[in-house]
Amino acid sequence: MIMSGLEKLPPGQYGETERYHWDSGGEVCDLFVEIREVPEQWLEPLWELYDECLHTDDTAQQQSCYDRETFMAAMGDPDYIRVVLLLDGVPRGLILTTTNLDKAAITYINTDMIRKRYPAEVAEGRFMYITSVYVSPVVRNLGFIKLMATAPVRIALERDYVISCDVSDNSLFLVDMMMALAREQGEEVEKDLLGSQHYFAVKRVSQGTS
Ligand SMILES: CC(C)(COP(=O)(O)OP(=O)(O)OC[C@H]1O[C@@H](n2cnc3c(N)ncnc32)[C@H](O)[C@@H]1OP(=O)(O)O)[C@@H](O)C(=O)NCCC(=O)NCCS
Repeated sequence: MIMSGLEKLPPGQYGETERYHWDSGGEVCDLFVEIREVPEQWLEPLWELYDECLHTDDTAQQQSCYDRETFMAAMGDPDYIRVVLLLDGVPRGLILTTTNLDKAAITYINTDMIRKRYPAEVAEGRFMYITSVYVSPVVRNLGFIKLMATAPVRIALERDYVISCDVSDNSLFLVDMMMALAREQGEEVEKDLLGSQHYFAVKRVSQGTS
């Protein structure tokens, strides 16, 4: 529904490569793809949202990997591709990716393993890792993530990038969603499971869970 009303605008003042606008009559949505200069007044709200969204209590591994300082650095770093979602002028979502594997290592990925698995892609800067993706809880389940992911998925495939990410079980659908977006754009894609890791606790039955 949102996609059908989306208007593509010429790239604007923030160095973005693509810009989209949607006016529902009551709510205005703006999407900036590959934004180079994130305006100062969006930085703090995006950080606060990151801090709120990525501290989940349903994963053993910490989902939050940036602190305020590294987050702010990533927001201005040319090695990152950023997609910013605004609703009525308020930052409500972010996709943060990089093709620099050393910078992607902030997410605790095993770069040696990935270099072995995708040597050419890493060497040629075609291994794109999504280090962070989030949408504000106040606008979840409305399809905004699909809207945000469409252009970067297309751009990545046009550039012959491999798109990689780690997801918790609750967000597994993100991988299928990206594959569906690629297929909608006429691309044949396949999933490659990168290793296997599970968190366990072995305990006496009488110990319970606390
Ligand atoms: C993960 C997150 C960005 C998803 O955003 P959301 O607003 O909850 O997602 P939505 O419900 O709007 O959209 C999900 C879309 O994926 C689609 N989808 C779900 N399962 C799918 C599947 N198996 N295959 C294809 N598409 C699928 C849904 O159909 C929906 O699209 P639709 O609107 O066309 O129906 C959001 O929940 C969030 O910010 N979570 C906290 C941070 C986080 O966990 N980030 C991810 C790990 S780093």
